[in-house]
Amino acid sequence: MENELLRYERLAEDLSGIIATGSLRPGERLPSVRRLSRERRLSVSTVLQALHQLEDRGLVEARPQSGYFVRHVAARRAPPSARSTPDAAVPVDVSQRLLRVLQTGMQPGVAPLGAALPAASLMPLAALQRLYGGVARRHPRLLESGSHINIDEPALLRQLVLRSMGWGGPLAASEFVITNSCTEALCLSLRAVTQPGDTVAVESPAYYLMLQLLETLGLKALEIPTDPHSGLSIEALDLATREGKVAACLLVANAGNPLGSIMPDENKRRLAKLTAERGVAVIEDDIYGDLHFGHERPWPIKAFDRADNVMLCSSFSKCLSPALRIGFVAAGRYRPQVALQKTITSGGTNPITQQVLAEYLESGAYERQMRGLRRTYQRQVEAMRAAVARHFPAATRITEPQGGFVLWVELPEEVDTSALYDQAIAAGVAYVPGELFSASGMYRNCLRLNCGNPHTPDIEDAVRRLGGLLAR
Ligand SMILES: Cc1ncc(COP(=O)(O)O)c(C=O)c1O
Repeated sequence: MENELLRYERLAEDLSGIIATGSLRPGERLPSVRRLSRERRLSVSTVLQALHQLEDRGLVEARPQSGYFVRHVAARRAPPSARSTPDAAVPVDVSQRLLRVLQTGMQPGVAPLGAALPAASLMPLAALQRLYGGVARRHPRLLESGSHINIDEPALLRQLVLRSMGWGGPLAASEFVITNSCTEALCLSLRAVTQPGDTVAVESPAYYLMLQLLETLGLKALEIPTDPHSGLSIEALDLATREGKVAACLLVANAGNPLGSIMPDENKRRLAKLTAERGVAVIEDDIYGDLHFGHERPWPIKAFDRADNVMLCSSFSKCLSPALRIGFVAAGRYRPQVALQKTITSGGTNPITQQVLAEYLESGAYERQMRGLRRTYQRQVEAMRAAVARHFPAATRITEPQGGFVLWVELPEEVDTSALYDQAIAAGVAYVPGELFSASGMYRNCLRLNCGNPHTPDIEDAVRRLGGLLAR
């Protein structure tokens, strides 16, 4: 079974590679099922499975009696390119607008293309439910304990150390602080290394919650151009940190939000070295690291950190359930400051949930969940790309994410996605307007779409309605 699975995936990947490189062009016919079966020595059903996967991803279409053809739609859209950003750091003011967008986007009856949340059907809820019951019975001490000092459960720390082998590690258990979510990990890390008024380098476009954190902590944002394929520009960061003092660099190097880019290892190495030399602390958010679409898990910048200067933050919100609210930071030499911030913020992190997570990870179920989830997210992202290509105005550009489950869409200059937002909600579709990803009000002609839900006819119809609105 495992073999069959791998074989059809390999065939699907080979064919999508041939399409991506242009060897098979839109409208051209793929080799027949019988020929693929013969030449690849695969059963007909395995070949069909591969073709169905490509169909789901919007790359090919079946034509009755004729075979499979490369679709026109998905291939004709170019990805957006990195934009130049302001030279100076600016104060941030996105929170109120963001709150309104996220709240209106959650209303019943509105297609959930706004907040980056996975569908409940993709979460291993039954397994987590069983574990919660069992853990509460088997570990009564967890309900008894509780204190204002950090309680990091040894069983979870052990699992994180084991997982860190796959991040270019291993990291030491003593480096971790367990947190309530990735958001808390990012906040504690920022507070550990900055003072109000300091400047923090961020990606452009940046994940809006990072901008919100800067705003509430009284920090200024220095937006660094970020490429949809290779991530934050090291050259621009080099220039930006030559003179002015930059306290920290806050970024998502693996499958970033919103661009889905993965920074090449060489750039990660250069970034780790440059920031260490310039005295810039790095706060790395690796929440999408396990959700890459390629063969190997990309290493975080932390893997290239020789100066203990990188704080690696993450959580299980995108892979298991956002409701767990368990995250962590491996804080390098900043660990004592981060631990202090944790103590004065929330004391510890729920010990029952820590134990549940530890047992889930220990059981091996996480690896299986991830294998399925990566494929599912990739399929959903591809289906959304194809839908955007079908329904949005002709000059629209779409990212090709290398992981995660959001799409960044750039519309013609004259489209204002903030001005159109209320009309979209009235038409029953949510999204996040592009300007919320910038401290300086860039990206008004862009928007982000959540692909965390199965691409049902309802979602397709929502994309069609949104496309109609944007084209007007
Ligand atoms: C890059 C990034 N970091 C952090 C978070 C939030 O994670 P958590 O729910 O663990 O706070 C998100 C959620 O959208 C995200 O996209």
